[in-house]
Amino acid sequence: MRKQIAAANWKMNLTVDKAEVLLEEIVNVNITLKENQLAVFAVPFPYLQLAEQKLSTQNFYAAAQNCYSKKSGAYTGEVSAEMLQSLNIKYVVLGHSERREYFDESNQLLAEKLNIALEYNIMPIFCCGEPLSIRDAQIQNEFVAKQLQESLFHFSADDMQKIVIAYEPIWAIGTGKTASSLQAQEMHAYIRKVLADKFGKTVAGNISILYGGSVKASNAKEIFNQPDVDGGLVGGASLIASEFITIINSLK
Ligand code: 13P
Repeated sequence: MRKQIAAANWKMNLTVDKAEVLLEEIVNVNITLKENQLAVFAVPFPYLQLAEQKLSTQNFYAAAQNCYSKKSGAYTGEVSAEMLQSLNIKYVVLGHSERREYFDESNQLLAEKLNIALEYNIMPIFCCGEPLSIRDAQIQNEFVAKQLQESLFHFSADDMQKIVIAYEPIWAIGTGKTASSLQAQEMHAYIRKVLADKFGKTVAGNISILYGGSVKASNAKEIFNQPDVDGGLVGGASLIASEFITIINSLK
């Protein structure tokens, strides 16, 4: 049974005091997750250790929002997968559209980042998704397929199962405009088909595909209930304890 995941992406928000309060508010509720359910918190680098310590509850994990493509060396300001591993971090978000847009991250660079994350046993949450112009031109399937092909198709079927996909249509991020549950399901089924054609149906069936883009307490259940949606990657609403608690409780 594939994992159902509620992933928070805090982006560049919160000071350490607020981060601590937010984590405590969520952990103190004592949410009981089923064996196949996870809650993951992608926090800013300086808060990773704090989050890792606070989230010692079963099936709650701290995650990084990025890592670099090189092992170590003279790369001022970067953070390596090995450093994350040394902090006991098990997940890393890679290829978020904000990284692609503001930091010029290409599908090729992301292939390298994915390689290194797997080398250090960190499960990548690999983001894909189209901008509005591509959706309007109705070529979103081709666009997303290319992202998957160029960053993921060099993996073995075995390694592919160590990667989580997050479909985040850029036009739905931070805009309050969510993809309808039907639009999400259509794209998720398409992504699973692309993965099945390359890696086989069983492998594709084991891969968690999260939806991201204006997920909130009020719409999470409907979106997560779609057959090919295995949870969400949540920005704004993950900064509010009550919202994110409801989102975690909406996992199927
Ligand atoms: P919002 O939930 O704020 O739309 O952000 C989505 C996102 O980018 C998560 O990675």
